[in-house]
Amino acid sequence: MPEDEPDALCFDMYGTLCDTSTVTTALGDHLDVADGFAADVGALWRRTQLRYAQQVALMDDYAPFREVTERALNYALDFYDLDPADGERQRVLDAYDDLDPFPDAADALADLGGRHAVVVLSNGNPEMLDTLAENAGLADRLDDVVSAHEVRTFKPDPAVYRNAADRLDRAVGDCRLVSSNPWDVAGAASAGMATAWVNRSREPPERVGGDAELTVASLAALVDSL
Ligand code: LAC
Repeated sequence: MPEDEPDALCFDMYGTLCDTSTVTTALGDHLDVADGFAADVGALWRRTQLRYAQQVALMDDYAPFREVTERALNYALDFYDLDPADGERQRVLDAYDDLDPFPDAADALADLGGRHAVVVLSNGNPEMLDTLAENAGLADRLDDVVSAHEVRTFKPDPAVYRNAADRLDRAVGDCRLVSSNPWDVAGAASAGMATAWVNRSREPPERVGGDAELTVASLAALVDSL
């Protein structure tokens, strides 16, 4: 590892280590709707979850990510005029505890963990992150889990990235965020963190915030680049 290479890697969880589109199957099964429709509901749910997290942070009206996720689900169901019973609604929400890891996630963490401190840095609240890390088979490969809940706001608030650096006992520039979410990469770079963008779907970069220092197409490619 080059001497100036940040030696702590902070992995985003939702969309980076674990695949949020896994909820499409739960939506299809529990709501008994066609896969294409379930994918539309799931995509609106995810977009609304991220929008709500940013809105409550801006409004200084923090709520844990689990609650934000539930409110976003209720919005998405309402938007599509769906009104499942409470039990079904709960089972759909619980799909967030059981997302599939991306196929290269466990190996990438194991490989990079030999050379770097490897933690999760996520907007998820600690309980949901611990449950998901365990269910996805990633828990044993992580040195720690750092949640935005510790500072009661959400990425891309710089307080979240700075708290991660404090927890890792390093300067913010000695930590690298690894994320598939371009807004997260832009936010971390703006806060002074090194970044790696796992751009699986060839999205264009954000036009606000900082630039990605390193862009790769997969976690496996990240292992080769670091
Ligand atoms: C995370 C989500 C929001 O922080 O991508 O894990």
